[in-house]
Amino acid sequence: MKHDFDTVIDRMKTSSVKWDGAEALFGAKDLLPLWVADMDFKVPEAVSKAVEAKAAHGIFGYTTRDDGYYNSIISWMKTRHNWTVEREWICHSPGVVTALSLAVQAFTEPGDKVIVQPPVYYPFMSTTENNGREVVFNPLKEQDGRYSMDFDDLRAKIDGSVKLLMLCNPHNPGGTVWTKEDLQTLGEICLEHGILVISDEIHSDLVFEQGSHVPFASISDEFADSSITCTAPSKTFNLAGLQTSNIIIPNAGLRAAFEKETARNSIGMPNSFGPVATEAAYTEGGDWLADVLDYVKGNVEFITGYFKEHVPALKVLPLEATYLAWIDCRELGMSPEELESFFLTEAHVALNQGKAFGPGGEGFVRMNLACSRSVVEKAARQIEEAVAGLDQ
Ligand SMILES: Cc1ncc(COP(=O)(O)O)c(C=O)c1O
Repeated sequence: MKHDFDTVIDRMKTSSVKWDGAEALFGAKDLLPLWVADMDFKVPEAVSKAVEAKAAHGIFGYTTRDDGYYNSIISWMKTRHNWTVEREWICHSPGVVTALSLAVQAFTEPGDKVIVQPPVYYPFMSTTENNGREVVFNPLKEQDGRYSMDFDDLRAKIDGSVKLLMLCNPHNPGGTVWTKEDLQTLGEICLEHGILVISDEIHSDLVFEQGSHVPFASISDEFADSSITCTAPSKTFNLAGLQTSNIIIPNAGLRAAFEKETARNSIGMPNSFGPVATEAAYTEGGDWLADVLDYVKGNVEFITGYFKEHVPALKVLPLEATYLAWIDCRELGMSPEELESFFLTEAHVALNQGKAFGPGGEGFVRMNLACSRSVVEKAARQIEEAVAGLDQ
């Protein structure tokens, strides 16, 4: 491996939400933070260099997105995901969560319904509810540690008020890479009922089997025409703080409606550093990403094996994508509140609690494994000791 991810980089006192923000958020001291989804790794050198060159220029005026930026996205989507994207389809949004909110505003009316598939990334619910729309749950089914979609339940939940379905592709949490067949069936049901699909593909580059991700919109012209796809270099290359995402909307009418919302909220312009970092990452970051995926895979194997041997009550679900391990803690027999307090006050680790991800998340926790192996080992030992303490 060319890159060093073993050296722990001190992130305290760097305004890091994950590290500096943990104490205030969780109300406990000395926490090992393995929660919010950013990496404790330095970005590819090419990205740092591009940002440094921009900083050295010393002028940070209003910023456009240039040819190099657009071409880097188009080329990444083609080579990584075999998806041909046209330049004018690519819209700016500071974040993907912002885009979810804008989509709700652009494509639904107050009181309309939005289908989500829990357990799922909690802003799917909050962006819907914060805009006065109703969340409808189409829960995933879990069998032998893998999630699948429940199409019978989906059909039963659809009525005339359902306008959107938010798809998490690949899925967070659980790390499921949806197959073409899964997406085909889902898309056909949505087409039949005139439901627009918002496909959040922010984790699509973080698949352990290269080429396994299928962009929803790449399946057919009809799907492309009735969906919007949220992509970003932020999870892939650890650029969340640069607030740059790319929302791909092939349908001109939908694109105009989305851009009307970005204009209405005056958020259509990128910051000075996001585009240069994106371009450098997509054109020169491939080797770095391959090493990150290898390293994270090693972390997943480590924690899975460690718990199997030392803490059998905790089961790490097999992960096909993302650096977020989804851990079944139901054998501990705790309520969601007890589980939360147990990890904070006994194990001293800050994790995302499963109940926040909606129905089906209770009894699970999500652990961020995009960190040095020694940090994962420390967390594993702390958790082992805390679980052992339960028997005394
Ligand atoms: C599925 C999903 N969508 C969106 C985001 C956040 O995107 P952004 O930081 O661009 O708002 C995350 C972060 O973890 C995520 O898991």
